[in-house]
Amino acid sequence: MKKRVGIEALAVAVPRRYVDIEDLARARGVDPAKFTAGLGAKEMAVNDPGEDSVSLAATAAARLIQQQGVDTSKLGMLVVGTETGVDHSKPIASHVHGLLKLPRAMRTFDSQHACYGGTAGLMAAVEWIASGAGAGRSALVVCTDIARYGLKTAGEPTQGGGAVALLVSETPDLLAVDVGLNGVSTADVYDFWRPVGRREALVDGHYSITCYLDAMAGAYRGWRERALEQGLVRWDSKLPSEQLARILYHVPFCKMARKAHAQVRLCDLEDSGNGPATPEARDEAAKSQPSYDAQVAKSLGLNARVGNVYTASLYLALAGQLHAEGAALAGQRIGLLSYGSGSCAEFFSGIVGEKAAERMARADLDTVLAKRERVSVEEYERLMNLPYDAPEAIAPEPGTFRLAEIHEFRRKYAGA
Ligand code: HMG
Repeated sequence: MKKRVGIEALAVAVPRRYVDIEDLARARGVDPAKFTAGLGAKEMAVNDPGEDSVSLAATAAARLIQQQGVDTSKLGMLVVGTETGVDHSKPIASHVHGLLKLPRAMRTFDSQHACYGGTAGLMAAVEWIASGAGAGRSALVVCTDIARYGLKTAGEPTQGGGAVALLVSETPDLLAVDVGLNGVSTADVYDFWRPVGRREALVDGHYSITCYLDAMAGAYRGWRERALEQGLVRWDSKLPSEQLARILYHVPFCKMARKAHAQVRLCDLEDSGNGPATPEARDEAAKSQPSYDAQVAKSLGLNARVGNVYTASLYLALAGQLHAEGAALAGQRIGLLSYGSGSCAEFFSGIVGEKAAERMARADLDTVLAKRERVSVEEYERLMNLPYDAPEAIAPEPGTFRLAEIHEFRRKYAGA
């Protein structure tokens, strides 16, 4: 298991419309500062029924192949991480495989565990390649989701949607994963769930935050134990977590990354043996603004403008981080924390590649976001109220896919 393996390149797809979060706050009679300062949001992606999890996944994957000149004959695995699948049996991966005309000799499947499904898929691909079973082939891992809680719910300002496609290979130009260093933590909890047949998720919002923080503490401590054993971090004047150049978190809303970062620091401060003596002083040190600014803040640029993308949210943070600082981070180790309700958390790490900035330039993220159209709250509500099976007849933008119709429960797509 000593090969260099990880993420070679990525591409992002987002719905073509968004709503300004301050417009939404005013329409709901809420102080806009609650959504901006309180949750850390700026804009929220709004999808219409033609932009489902399949079309967003296929668009992101097609974009990745086109932007990075991927040789599809070298792909041996396609995994779609999602919690907003469109069929109980037929996976989104099979739709993406067909729409992109990928080779027959491929393993294809969906991976589901709330927001953790994408990371589960990524680790399946990384370990398949690292073990040698991939025999030099690469994997496509696509994280795709539409976060939907419903109009006028507490979760409403934390909705969003989109997809991030990852090319995983032995040429990890973006991120060489530290294989085997992962820390994980699972618990059987009802913090967020979506019973079969429901379009909107159910959530125990404040409890879900507690579950996230609890799970991530276990995952982080597991990673730290292995990283200490291997001498990658140490107990010295800098906390182990401070020895990571950046830490990226699952971002259901941006403020959650701040809470998560304080939790990671608290784990270190509690375990260090010579940190602040009282719980109050430890809490204060955990919330360090300079540490948050240096290690986390720059990863949130895209998340603040798209909202929650469930499985794709951590990888949107990776895209935002490398878009902002790909060149500066080359050769440095970063940490990543994935959380899926229900629950499972995984903390892992990797080294940013020398070609990260070049690869990210090809992803052209500024254009992807700039092409979107801002809609009013009235239009957002109209789109939310459209039935899922009656997409409007809109021609797909060049290079993108749309759901065209559902006939006898079979979905047909147009585009690209
Ligand atoms: P809420 O109860 O409406 O908001 O719901 P609140 O009262 O907790 O306020 C939110 C923050 O705004 C607070 O900050 C307030 O102080 C602040 P905090 O104390 O947390 O630091 N605030 C203000 N700030 C400035 N000016 C003001 C003002 N007013 C208040 N005027 C909640 C918030 C997140 C619970 C809700 O939106 C929700 O239920 N969201 C969905 C659930 C969620 O995102 N959970 C996150 C953890 S679980 C997870 O990440 C998994 C998930 O992605 C799903 C999966 O795994 O598949 C969700």
